[in-house]
Amino acid sequence: MRYTTLKKTNLRISRIGLGTNAVGGHNLFENINEEAGKKFVEAALEEGITFLDTADIYGKGRSEELIGQVISGRPRNEIVLATKGSQNWQTADGSVQTDNSPAYLRQAFEASLKRLQTDYIDLYYIHFPDGKTPIGEAVAELVKWKEEGKIRAIGVSNLSFEQLQEANVHGDINALQMPYHLLDRSVEKDILPYCVENDISFIPYGPLAFGLLGGKYTKEFTLAPNDWRRSVSLFSSDEFENSLAKVEQLKKVAANKNSTVSHLSLAWLLSQNGVDSVIPGGKHPEQIRDTAKASRLLLTAEDLSQIDDILS
Ligand SMILES: NC(=O)c1ccc[n+]([C@@H]2O[C@H](COP(=O)([O-])OP(=O)(O)OC[C@H]3O[C@@H](n4cnc5c(N)ncnc54)[C@H](OP(=O)(O)O)[C@@H]3O)[C@@H](O)[C@H]2O)c1
Repeated sequence: MRYTTLKKTNLRISRIGLGTNAVGGHNLFENINEEAGKKFVEAALEEGITFLDTADIYGKGRSEELIGQVISGRPRNEIVLATKGSQNWQTADGSVQTDNSPAYLRQAFEASLKRLQTDYIDLYYIHFPDGKTPIGEAVAELVKWKEEGKIRAIGVSNLSFEQLQEANVHGDINALQMPYHLLDRSVEKDILPYCVENDISFIPYGPLAFGLLGGKYTKEFTLAPNDWRRSVSLFSSDEFENSLAKVEQLKKVAANKNSTVSHLSLAWLLSQNGVDSVIPGGKHPEQIRDTAKASRLLLTAEDLSQIDDILS
Protein backbone atom coordinates (compact mmCIF):
# COMPACT_ATOMS: atom_id res chain seq x y z
CA MET A 1 0.00 0.00 0.00
CA ARG A 2 1.12 3.56 -0.60
CA TYR A 3 0.42 6.36 1.86
CA THR A 4 0.27 10.14 1.87
CA THR A 5 -0.74 12.92 4.22
CA LEU A 6 -4.13 14.59 4.35
CA LYS A 7 -3.60 18.24 3.46
CA LYS A 8 -2.73 20.66 6.30
CA THR A 9 -2.75 17.79 8.87
CA ASN A 10 -0.37 15.14 10.12
CA LEU A 11 -2.88 12.36 9.30
CA ARG A 12 -1.23 9.59 7.28
CA ILE A 13 -3.80 8.09 4.91
CA SER A 14 -3.60 5.10 2.59
CA ARG A 15 -3.82 6.16 -1.06
CA ILE A 16 -6.47 3.50 -1.47
CA GLY A 17 -9.10 4.08 1.18
CA LEU A 18 -12.38 2.30 1.75
CA GLY A 19 -15.89 3.37 0.73
CA THR A 20 -18.53 1.81 2.96
CA ASN A 21 -21.93 2.91 1.68
CA ALA A 22 -22.71 -0.78 1.02
CA VAL A 23 -21.60 -1.85 4.53
CA GLY A 24 -24.98 -2.01 6.25
CA GLY A 25 -26.31 0.39 3.58
CA HIS A 26 -29.81 -1.09 3.51
CA ASN A 27 -31.33 2.23 2.42
CA LEU A 28 -29.07 2.38 -0.67
CA PHE A 29 -28.80 -1.19 -1.97
CA GLU A 30 -30.87 -4.38 -2.09
CA ASN A 31 -29.91 -7.57 -0.19
CA ILE A 32 -27.07 -6.20 1.90
CA ASN A 33 -25.25 -8.88 3.88
CA GLU A 34 -23.93 -7.32 7.09
CA GLU A 35 -21.42 -10.09 7.87
CA ALA A 36 -19.90 -9.77 4.38
CA GLY A 37 -19.76 -6.00 4.96
CA LYS A 38 -17.82 -6.42 8.20
CA LYS A 39 -15.44 -8.86 6.49
CA PHE A 40 -15.01 -6.28 3.71
CA VAL A 41 -13.79 -3.75 6.31
CA GLU A 42 -11.58 -6.33 8.07
CA ALA A 43 -10.01 -7.39 4.76
CA ALA A 44 -9.28 -3.75 3.92
CA LEU A 45 -7.43 -3.26 7.22
CA GLU A 46 -5.43 -6.44 6.56
CA GLU A 47 -4.43 -5.03 3.15
CA GLY A 48 -2.97 -1.92 4.81
CA ILE A 49 -5.96 0.29 4.02
CA THR A 50 -6.20 2.72 6.92
CA PHE A 51 -8.50 5.44 5.58
CA LEU A 52 -12.14 4.46 6.18
CA ASP A 53 -15.00 6.49 4.73
CA THR A 54 -18.54 6.25 6.06
CA ALA A 55 -21.52 8.54 6.74
CA ASP A 56 -24.32 8.52 9.28
CA ILE A 57 -26.95 8.18 6.54
CA TYR A 58 -25.47 4.90 5.16
CA GLY A 59 -27.98 2.39 6.48
CA LYS A 60 -29.34 5.18 8.72
CA GLY A 61 -26.61 4.61 11.27
CA ARG A 62 -26.01 0.93 10.51
CA SER A 63 -22.79 1.42 8.51
CA GLU A 64 -21.26 3.36 11.40
CA GLU A 65 -22.39 0.71 13.89
CA LEU A 66 -20.81 -2.14 11.90
CA ILE A 67 -17.58 -0.20 11.41
CA GLY A 68 -17.58 0.59 15.12
CA GLN A 69 -17.79 -3.14 15.84
CA VAL A 70 -14.85 -3.90 13.53
CA ILE A 71 -12.53 -1.17 14.81
CA SER A 72 -13.41 -1.26 18.51
CA GLY A 73 -10.77 -3.87 19.38
CA ARG A 74 -8.01 -2.28 17.30
CA PRO A 75 -5.54 0.52 18.03
CA ARG A 76 -7.55 3.63 17.19
CA ASN A 77 -4.50 5.61 16.08
CA GLU A 78 -3.83 3.14 13.25
CA ILE A 79 -7.11 4.11 11.55
CA VAL A 80 -8.02 7.40 9.94
CA LEU A 81 -11.77 7.50 10.31
CA ALA A 82 -13.92 9.77 8.15
CA THR A 83 -17.66 10.18 8.53
CA LYS A 84 -20.27 12.67 7.36
CA GLY A 85 -23.41 14.33 8.66
CA SER A 86 -26.21 16.62 7.45
CA GLN A 87 -28.87 14.09 6.41
CA ASN A 88 -31.53 13.94 9.13
CA TRP A 89 -33.64 10.78 8.79
CA GLN A 90 -35.22 11.05 12.24
CA THR A 91 -37.90 13.50 11.07
CA ALA A 92 -41.61 13.54 11.98
CA ASP A 93 -42.70 12.11 8.62
CA GLY A 94 -39.66 9.83 8.16
CA SER A 95 -38.35 11.75 5.13
CA VAL A 96 -34.65 12.58 4.91
CA GLN A 97 -34.01 16.33 5.40
CA THR A 98 -30.67 18.04 4.85
CA ASP A 99 -29.77 20.20 7.84
CA ASN A 100 -26.53 22.18 8.26
CA SER A 101 -27.61 24.14 11.33
CA PRO A 102 -24.84 24.03 13.97
CA ALA A 103 -27.24 22.55 16.55
CA TYR A 104 -28.28 19.69 14.25
CA LEU A 105 -24.72 18.98 13.10
CA ARG A 106 -23.48 18.74 16.70
CA GLN A 107 -26.26 16.35 17.64
CA ALA A 108 -25.58 14.20 14.56
CA PHE A 109 -21.86 14.19 15.31
CA GLU A 110 -22.36 13.04 18.91
CA ALA A 111 -24.58 10.17 17.65
CA SER A 112 -21.89 9.17 15.13
CA LEU A 113 -19.28 8.98 17.90
CA LYS A 114 -21.47 6.55 19.85
CA ARG A 115 -22.16 4.30 16.86
CA LEU A 116 -18.49 4.27 15.89
CA GLN A 117 -17.46 3.55 19.51
CA THR A 118 -14.89 6.32 19.51
CA ASP A 119 -14.38 9.68 21.17
CA TYR A 120 -12.99 11.51 18.14
CA ILE A 121 -13.33 11.54 14.36
CA ASP A 122 -10.28 12.15 12.20
CA LEU A 123 -12.11 13.76 9.30
CA TYR A 124 -15.69 15.00 9.58
CA TYR A 125 -17.50 16.08 6.41
CA ILE A 126 -20.57 18.23 5.96
CA HIS A 127 -22.25 15.72 3.62
CA PHE A 128 -24.55 18.03 1.61
CA PRO A 129 -25.30 21.77 1.74
CA ASP A 130 -28.85 22.46 2.94
CA GLY A 131 -29.52 25.50 0.76
CA LYS A 132 -30.33 27.74 3.71
CA THR A 133 -27.58 27.68 6.37
CA PRO A 134 -24.62 29.71 5.08
CA ILE A 135 -21.90 27.10 4.50
CA GLY A 136 -19.42 29.33 6.39
CA GLU A 137 -21.62 29.06 9.49
CA ALA A 138 -21.63 25.25 9.28
CA VAL A 139 -17.84 25.17 8.79
CA ALA A 140 -17.37 27.53 11.77
CA GLU A 141 -19.13 24.95 13.94
CA LEU A 142 -16.66 22.26 12.81
CA VAL A 143 -13.76 24.62 13.53
CA LYS A 144 -14.98 24.70 17.16
CA TRP A 145 -14.98 20.88 17.32
CA LYS A 146 -11.45 20.89 15.99
CA GLU A 147 -10.41 23.30 18.73
CA GLU A 148 -12.16 21.04 21.25
CA GLY A 149 -10.09 18.07 19.98
CA LYS A 150 -13.18 16.18 18.80
CA ILE A 151 -12.14 16.13 15.15
CA ARG A 152 -8.75 16.38 13.46
CA ALA A 153 -9.78 17.67 10.05
CA ILE A 154 -12.70 19.34 8.26
CA GLY A 155 -14.31 18.08 5.07
CA VAL A 156 -17.09 19.21 2.77
CA SER A 157 -18.89 17.36 0.02
CA ASN A 158 -21.30 17.91 -2.87
CA LEU A 159 -20.66 21.67 -3.12
CA SER A 160 -20.72 23.97 -6.13
CA PHE A 161 -17.50 25.81 -6.94
CA GLU A 162 -18.94 28.97 -5.36
CA GLN A 163 -19.96 27.12 -2.19
CA LEU A 164 -16.50 25.57 -1.93
CA GLN A 165 -14.86 29.00 -2.07
CA GLU A 166 -17.27 30.29 0.55
CA ALA A 167 -16.64 27.25 2.80
CA ASN A 168 -12.88 27.76 2.53
CA VAL A 169 -12.82 31.55 2.92
CA HIS A 170 -10.64 31.20 6.05
CA GLY A 171 -8.64 28.24 4.67
CA ASP A 172 -10.24 25.75 7.08
CA ILE A 173 -11.07 22.95 4.62
CA ASN A 174 -8.80 19.88 4.59
CA ALA A 175 -10.75 17.62 2.23
CA LEU A 176 -13.39 17.84 -0.46
CA GLN A 177 -15.41 14.84 -1.63
CA MET A 178 -17.05 15.01 -5.06
CA PRO A 179 -17.85 12.49 -7.80
CA TYR A 180 -14.84 12.03 -10.11
CA HIS A 181 -13.88 9.08 -12.27
CA LEU A 182 -12.95 8.23 -15.85
CA LEU A 183 -16.54 8.68 -17.04
CA ASP A 184 -17.15 12.02 -15.27
CA ARG A 185 -14.34 14.57 -15.30
CA SER A 186 -16.45 17.68 -14.66
CA VAL A 187 -14.50 18.71 -11.51
CA GLU A 188 -11.39 19.26 -13.66
CA LYS A 189 -12.80 22.61 -14.85
CA ASP A 190 -12.47 24.61 -11.63
CA ILE A 191 -13.02 22.54 -8.46
CA LEU A 192 -9.95 20.29 -8.70
CA PRO A 193 -7.56 23.15 -9.66
CA TYR A 194 -8.94 25.17 -6.72
CA CYS A 195 -8.13 22.26 -4.35
CA VAL A 196 -4.57 22.08 -5.70
CA GLU A 197 -4.06 25.85 -5.30
CA ASN A 198 -5.59 25.91 -1.82
CA ASP A 199 -4.01 22.82 -0.28
CA ILE A 200 -7.20 20.77 -0.01
CA SER A 201 -7.12 16.98 -0.41
CA PHE A 202 -9.49 16.03 -3.20
CA ILE A 203 -11.11 12.67 -2.41
CA PRO A 204 -13.11 11.41 -5.41
CA TYR A 205 -16.20 9.40 -4.65
CA GLY A 206 -17.59 6.77 -7.01
CA PRO A 207 -14.02 6.12 -8.28
CA LEU A 208 -15.25 3.00 -10.12
CA ALA A 209 -18.19 4.95 -11.58
CA PHE A 210 -20.38 3.27 -8.94
CA GLY A 211 -19.52 -0.19 -10.34
CA LEU A 212 -19.46 0.57 -14.09
CA LEU A 213 -15.65 0.71 -14.16
CA GLY A 214 -15.51 -2.64 -12.36
CA GLY A 215 -15.78 -4.13 -15.86
CA LYS A 216 -18.47 -6.73 -15.11
CA TYR A 217 -21.64 -4.91 -16.09
CA THR A 218 -23.25 -5.73 -19.44
CA LYS A 219 -26.19 -4.31 -21.42
CA GLU A 220 -28.45 -6.68 -19.48
CA PHE A 221 -27.48 -5.14 -16.11
CA THR A 222 -30.44 -3.64 -14.23
CA LEU A 223 -30.66 -1.87 -10.90
CA ALA A 224 -33.05 -2.99 -8.15
CA PRO A 225 -35.98 -0.57 -7.65
CA ASN A 226 -34.53 0.78 -4.39
CA ASP A 227 -30.87 1.00 -5.56
CA TRP A 228 -29.71 4.61 -5.01
CA ARG A 229 -27.78 4.53 -8.32
CA ARG A 230 -31.10 5.05 -10.14
CA SER A 231 -30.42 8.75 -9.45
CA VAL A 232 -26.98 8.62 -11.18
CA SER A 233 -27.27 9.74 -14.81
CA LEU A 234 -24.58 7.26 -15.98
CA PHE A 235 -27.08 4.47 -15.31
CA SER A 236 -29.86 6.16 -17.33
CA SER A 237 -30.85 4.42 -20.55
CA ASP A 238 -29.37 7.33 -22.56
CA GLU A 239 -25.88 7.06 -21.13
CA PHE A 240 -25.46 3.45 -20.01
CA GLU A 241 -24.55 1.78 -23.33
CA ASN A 242 -22.25 4.62 -24.34
CA SER A 243 -20.42 4.25 -21.02
CA LEU A 244 -20.14 0.47 -21.47
CA ALA A 245 -18.54 1.03 -24.89
CA LYS A 246 -15.88 3.25 -23.29
CA VAL A 247 -15.27 0.66 -20.57
CA GLU A 248 -14.62 -1.95 -23.29
CA GLN A 249 -11.93 0.28 -24.85
CA LEU A 250 -10.39 1.01 -21.45
CA LYS A 251 -10.23 -2.75 -20.79
CA LYS A 252 -7.84 -3.05 -23.76
CA VAL A 253 -5.48 -0.41 -22.34
CA ALA A 254 -5.58 -2.25 -19.00
CA ALA A 255 -4.93 -5.64 -20.64
CA ASN A 256 -1.83 -4.24 -22.38
CA LYS A 257 -0.49 -3.51 -18.91
CA ASN A 258 -1.53 -6.96 -17.59
CA SER A 259 -4.06 -5.18 -15.45
CA THR A 260 -7.81 -4.70 -15.13
CA VAL A 261 -10.07 -1.78 -15.88
CA SER A 262 -10.86 -1.27 -12.18
CA HIS A 263 -7.15 -1.02 -11.32
CA LEU A 264 -6.55 1.27 -14.31
CA SER A 265 -9.41 3.52 -13.18
CA LEU A 266 -8.03 3.90 -9.66
CA ALA A 267 -4.42 4.35 -10.83
CA TRP A 268 -5.63 7.04 -13.24
CA LEU A 269 -7.34 8.95 -10.44
CA LEU A 270 -4.27 8.63 -8.21
CA SER A 271 -2.14 10.09 -11.00
CA GLN A 272 -4.23 13.30 -11.07
CA ASN A 273 -2.72 16.27 -9.28
CA GLY A 274 -4.76 17.02 -6.14
CA VAL A 275 -6.18 13.50 -5.65
CA ASP A 276 -4.66 12.18 -2.44
CA SER A 277 -6.73 9.03 -1.91
CA VAL A 278 -9.55 7.11 -3.56
CA ILE A 279 -12.33 5.41 -1.59
CA PRO A 280 -13.66 2.51 -3.70
CA GLY A 281 -16.66 0.68 -2.31
CA GLY A 282 -17.77 -2.93 -2.46
CA LYS A 283 -19.80 -5.60 -0.72
CA HIS A 284 -17.40 -8.53 -0.29
CA PRO A 285 -13.87 -8.99 1.13
CA GLU A 286 -12.58 -10.42 -2.17
CA GLN A 287 -13.41 -7.15 -3.92
CA ILE A 288 -11.23 -5.02 -1.66
CA ARG A 289 -8.42 -7.59 -1.65
CA ASP A 290 -8.36 -7.24 -5.43
CA THR A 291 -8.80 -3.46 -5.38
CA ALA A 292 -5.87 -3.00 -2.98
CA LYS A 293 -3.55 -4.32 -5.71
CA ALA A 294 -4.30 -1.20 -7.77
CA SER A 295 -1.84 0.73 -5.59
CA ARG A 296 0.98 -1.09 -7.44
CA LEU A 297 -0.10 0.08 -10.90
CA LEU A 298 1.69 3.17 -12.18
CA LEU A 299 0.67 4.80 -15.45
CA THR A 300 3.05 6.34 -17.97
CA ALA A 301 2.46 9.56 -19.92
CA GLU A 302 1.69 7.36 -22.92
CA ASP A 303 -0.97 5.41 -20.99
CA LEU A 304 -2.56 8.68 -19.85
CA SER A 305 -2.68 10.03 -23.37
CA GLN A 306 -4.22 6.78 -24.68
CA ILE A 307 -6.89 7.05 -21.99
CA ASP A 308 -7.55 10.70 -22.92
CA ASP A 309 -8.06 9.67 -26.56
CA ILE A 310 -10.70 7.11 -25.53
CA LEU A 311 -12.54 9.60 -23.35
CA SER A 312 -12.46 12.53 -25.77
N1 LIG B 1 -19.98 12.17 -0.44
C1 LIG B 1 -20.97 11.57 -1.06
O1 LIG B 1 -22.06 12.15 -1.26
C2 LIG B 1 -20.80 10.17 -1.54
C3 LIG B 1 -21.69 9.64 -2.50
C4 LIG B 1 -21.49 8.32 -2.93
C5 LIG B 1 -20.44 7.58 -2.41
N2 LIG B 1 -19.61 8.12 -1.45
C6 LIG B 1 -18.50 7.35 -0.85
O2 LIG B 1 -17.67 6.90 -1.90
C7 LIG B 1 -17.50 5.48 -1.80
C8 LIG B 1 -17.25 4.90 -3.16
O3 LIG B 1 -18.36 5.07 -4.01
P1 LIG B 1 -19.28 3.85 -4.37
O4 LIG B 1 -19.00 2.74 -3.43
O5 LIG B 1 -20.68 4.36 -4.44
O6 LIG B 1 -18.86 3.50 -5.84
P2 LIG B 1 -17.51 2.91 -6.50
O7 LIG B 1 -16.43 2.80 -5.50
O8 LIG B 1 -17.26 3.71 -7.71
O9 LIG B 1 -18.00 1.49 -7.00
C9 LIG B 1 -18.18 0.43 -6.11
C10 LIG B 1 -18.61 -0.78 -6.88
O10 LIG B 1 -17.59 -1.18 -7.80
C11 LIG B 1 -17.56 -2.59 -7.90
N3 LIG B 1 -16.24 -3.08 -7.48
C12 LIG B 1 -15.64 -2.92 -6.27
N4 LIG B 1 -14.44 -3.51 -6.24
C13 LIG B 1 -14.26 -4.08 -7.45
C14 LIG B 1 -13.21 -4.85 -8.02
N5 LIG B 1 -12.09 -5.12 -7.35
N6 LIG B 1 -13.37 -5.29 -9.30
C15 LIG B 1 -14.49 -4.99 -10.00
N7 LIG B 1 -15.53 -4.27 -9.51
C16 LIG B 1 -15.41 -3.82 -8.24
C17 LIG B 1 -18.65 -3.13 -6.98
O11 LIG B 1 -19.83 -3.29 -7.73
P3 LIG B 1 -20.55 -4.74 -7.79
O12 LIG B 1 -20.63 -5.20 -6.36
O13 LIG B 1 -21.86 -4.47 -8.43
O14 LIG B 1 -19.64 -5.57 -8.63
C18 LIG B 1 -18.81 -2.00 -6.01
O15 LIG B 1 -20.06 -2.02 -5.38
C19 LIG B 1 -18.80 5.03 -1.11
O16 LIG B 1 -18.69 3.73 -0.58
C20 LIG B 1 -18.96 6.11 -0.09
O17 LIG B 1 -18.12 5.85 1.02
C21 LIG B 1 -19.78 9.41 -1.03
